[in-house]
Amino acid sequence: MDIRGLRRSYELGDLPEPDVEDPLVLFERWLGEARAVDHPGWEPSAMTLATATPDGLPSARTVLLKEFGADGLVWYTNYNSRKGAELAANPKAALPFYWAPLERQVRVEGSVEVLDPARSDAYFATRPADSRIAAIASPQSRVIPSRTHLEEAFAAATAEHIPPERPGNWGGFLLAPQVWEFWQGRRSRLHDRIRFRRDGDAWVRERLAP
Ligand SMILES: Cc1cc2nc3c(=O)[nH]c(=O)nc-3n(C[C@H](O)[C@H](O)[C@H](O)COP(=O)(O)O)c2cc1C
Repeated sequence: MDIRGLRRSYELGDLPEPDVEDPLVLFERWLGEARAVDHPGWEPSAMTLATATPDGLPSARTVLLKEFGADGLVWYTNYNSRKGAELAANPKAALPFYWAPLERQVRVEGSVEVLDPARSDAYFATRPADSRIAAIASPQSRVIPSRTHLEEAFAAATAEHIPPERPGNWGGFLLAPQVWEFWQGRRSRLHDRIRFRRDGDAWVRERLAP
């Protein structure tokens, strides 16, 4: 398959020097615009979570942004998963969002900590029952013998955990941003890139070459 000719010209918008000091304000504006896109299967809260082992072996996967605010961005997962182990050993991550219908990318980088357990409890309680059971039954990232094994574990957990309480190995992570970058695709590959980087209590705003 020759895919070299797959290309689009990005022409939907531009990114002039933002009128905000705080990148969170721009992120919330862009996320709102991404949410407004009506497209089957569209998940604007999906982001790539890139982690690395302490000796620099990277790995990346998709997770869902569930909360965000002045303290950072939150996703939920299994702490014993591959990503959980990598974050325990090297608590730094990058979180790019790609919002294709808007020809936009947002990149967030920073340090990561385990979310306050009370917040994880509160979120866990909002999940549908089958999602709560799955969090209990699935040893995420482990090799399992078969699909049947997983379904039997789910059935056993359904019978045993009434109501399903949050397991200690499942909960949130919080990334405190050190860098935000907003990318808007432009014609002729002359895209707009605005980076905010943390400098003490302030944000330094810079334009980057595409
Ligand atoms: C759209 C989408 C959303 C996902 N959301 C999550 C999530 O919020 N939390 C999670 O643990 N895994 C989520 N996953 C699954 C992860 O991509 C991944 O398979 C899993 O977390 C195991 O990753 P690991 O073995 O690197 O730890 C999602 C996958 C997709 C495609």
